[in-house]
Amino acid sequence: MIRDFLEKRAGTWHEHNIPEYDGKILYDIIVENNYTRILEIGTSSGHSGIWMAWALSKTNGRLITIEINEGRYQKAVSNFREAGVSDIIDAISGNAHNILDELEGPFDLIFCDADKDFYKQYFTDLYPRLVKGGCYTAHNVYDTSPKRQFKSNGITEFYQYVKSLDYMETTLDESAGGLSISYKKY
Ligand SMILES: C[S@@+](CC[C@H](N)C(=O)[O-])C[C@H]1O[C@@H](n2cnc3c(N)ncnc32)[C@H](O)[C@@H]1O
Repeated sequence: MIRDFLEKRAGTWHEHNIPEYDGKILYDIIVENNYTRILEIGTSSGHSGIWMAWALSKTNGRLITIEINEGRYQKAVSNFREAGVSDIIDAISGNAHNILDELEGPFDLIFCDADKDFYKQYFTDLYPRLVKGGCYTAHNVYDTSPKRQFKSNGITEFYQYVKSLDYMETTLDESAGGLSISYKKY
């Protein structure tokens, strides 16, 4: 059912949603590591959430996802229902900056895909709630258009910081939406 929904809707995601390629990367990371506790910042209309929920349907896990824009939140809720993943997802409407403190965690995977100037702050706030062996991912880090550069000063600051940490093993996938992938080693 989830696969059918994603196939039917392929090419129709136009609200800053991740490309399918990055959805598959997130899916694989979750399933291969048997992750069950996932946090997403920036739901939009739910494309990435549905890819992660599909993986969580295999690992028997749950996704918490936060969206500040009420219209996109409503679309996501409707898409989650149509995809058959509502039971796996706690969709929260609101500003992540006001909500994150209330979320205890821990998390196996965090996917950061919201306000880019706060990427480093999100990481430093959330890092303590990421388990050892967990994965911190951030989207749109790298502009994969012909420009081939980091997206903004805030993102450059985040990426250089996380790359410098010896307890995080960080790689950058430049194939689609510029996804940084950082595993917490200890
Ligand atoms: C790039 S889109 C997310 C795309 C989504 N992850 C997907 O692939 O389907 C970024 C979203 O983050 C939301 N956002 C921006 N700042 C936010 C904040 N402080 N708290 C929650 N959501 C925020 C925006 O409204 C926008 O919908």
